[in-house]
Amino acid sequence: MTMAVQPHFLLLTYPAQGHINPALQFAKGLTRIGVLVTLVTSLSAGRRMSKTLFPDGLSFVTFSDGYDDGFKPEDDRDHFTSELKRRGSQTLNELIVDSAKEGKPVTCLVYTMLLQFAAEVARAQHLPAALLWIQPATVFDIYYYYFNGYGDIFNNCKDTSYAIELPGLPPLASRDLPSFVLPSNTYTFALQMFQEQLEQLSQETNPKVLVNSFDALELVAMNATEKFNLIGIGPLIPSAFLDGKDPLDKSFGGDLFQGSEDYTEWLNSKTKSSVVYVSFGSILVLSKRQIEEIARGLVDSGLPFLWVRRDEQNKNEEKEEEDHLSACREAILERQGMIVPWCCQVEVLSHPSIGCFVTHCGWNSTLESLVCEVPVVAFPHWTDQGTNAKLIADVWKTGVRVVANEEGIVEGDEIKRCLDLVMAHGKTGEDIRKNAKKWKDLARDAVKEGGSSDKNLKAFVQEVGKGCF
Ligand code: UDX
Repeated sequence: MTMAVQPHFLLLTYPAQGHINPALQFAKGLTRIGVLVTLVTSLSAGRRMSKTLFPDGLSFVTFSDGYDDGFKPEDDRDHFTSELKRRGSQTLNELIVDSAKEGKPVTCLVYTMLLQFAAEVARAQHLPAALLWIQPATVFDIYYYYFNGYGDIFNNCKDTSYAIELPGLPPLASRDLPSFVLPSNTYTFALQMFQEQLEQLSQETNPKVLVNSFDALELVAMNATEKFNLIGIGPLIPSAFLDGKDPLDKSFGGDLFQGSEDYTEWLNSKTKSSVVYVSFGSILVLSKRQIEEIARGLVDSGLPFLWVRRDEQNKNEEKEEEDHLSACREAILERQGMIVPWCCQVEVLSHPSIGCFVTHCGWNSTLESLVCEVPVVAFPHWTDQGTNAKLIADVWKTGVRVVANEEGIVEGDEIKRCLDLVMAHGKTGEDIRKNAKKWKDLARDAVKEGGSSDKNLKAFVQEVGKGCF
């Protein structure tokens, strides 16, 4: 009788924070059900990973993509993309061969969005592959419709009052759509990458798309298109803040930015649900004018705030820093607020003093607010964020959405108006808090033993790992 081999997944992640975090949590979840995982990423991202935080069964391999200090906006994107593909494919091929020699043959190859070359490697090596989609199912569907028969109706989205109807989705106005499908999109390379992604998946007879979401959250969107049945396996959040299966799992373990610890004592000194947490993720760089308006809104609200401003934003504006933050300088001195370069966001969101989250609505931040039961002021900018804000404000009703002025700036008065609505004990605030509690409970139900995401993940591993069990 032959011995069963332990399933072994290669997991390739794009070297950006929004991909690394869910990929790491996905990997940890796999190890908990007996799968060996080799996480593969570029040298620049791998350098920042804390091996000490990883469970047994999770190892990682880095490769040079030619941009060892990380890709910067001024770099040549086409060159970066082609080098990532060339060197990434070579690394995956070598790992597949070496793993077989070491008696740990690769069972399946999973890759995060924008790395469709991994699917080509898997096909050539006769291995099953799956895409780990790090945005909501709703956004996957919108791209699918855009490239499959509905493209023309998106052209009408120049008019802000016009809403489009797509099967299984709520009516979507232009501000609710991913920015890349709008007629005003200038990031043509991004739209092209989403198109290639879908074309690559369409070549598979049984395409597998694992989504960092859960069935109850996006029930219709998971099955909206005929071609793809999306598999909800989220939310992918450190276990200590979600299901408690691993109380030591308190951070993702792959922060690309340097944090500061000195906010914890300050948070501890604040009363329950009193603090506004403000963060715009790992990519966005806000305009000087927008920063000043945020500062004004926060100060005028009179509420304590913890605001993440990444170092590169500070460096860009060092000289004029005083002017930008003049509205909030005194408040900071009086400790109404704190500004930090980076923090452990899930830990902050789960702190009892946090009362609301002013967020750009990146999908990870959106899920983290749900899991931590934190009401939201949705302040989207681009890519999937408008769709995520639509879901927050109008579908799950766990927050309110800011309205920008004609120049695209959200003014201080508007920010204060939203903070008042969410933080006060009026009907809007109470309804939002009730909904936040409901969605937190549903998120936890999804990942617990026998919950939808738990079952979906195990069924997926059983299917691709046939012969291993
Ligand atoms: C990008 C896109 O901008 C976003 O729209 C898409 O949904 C995912 O990819 P990003 O802008 O970085 O992501 O936002 P988000 O998805 O929210 O991811 C940021 C991650 O960084 C979160 O997991 C958050 O917990 C973490 N974070 C952020 C910290 O740990 N500390 C911080 O100070 C700020």
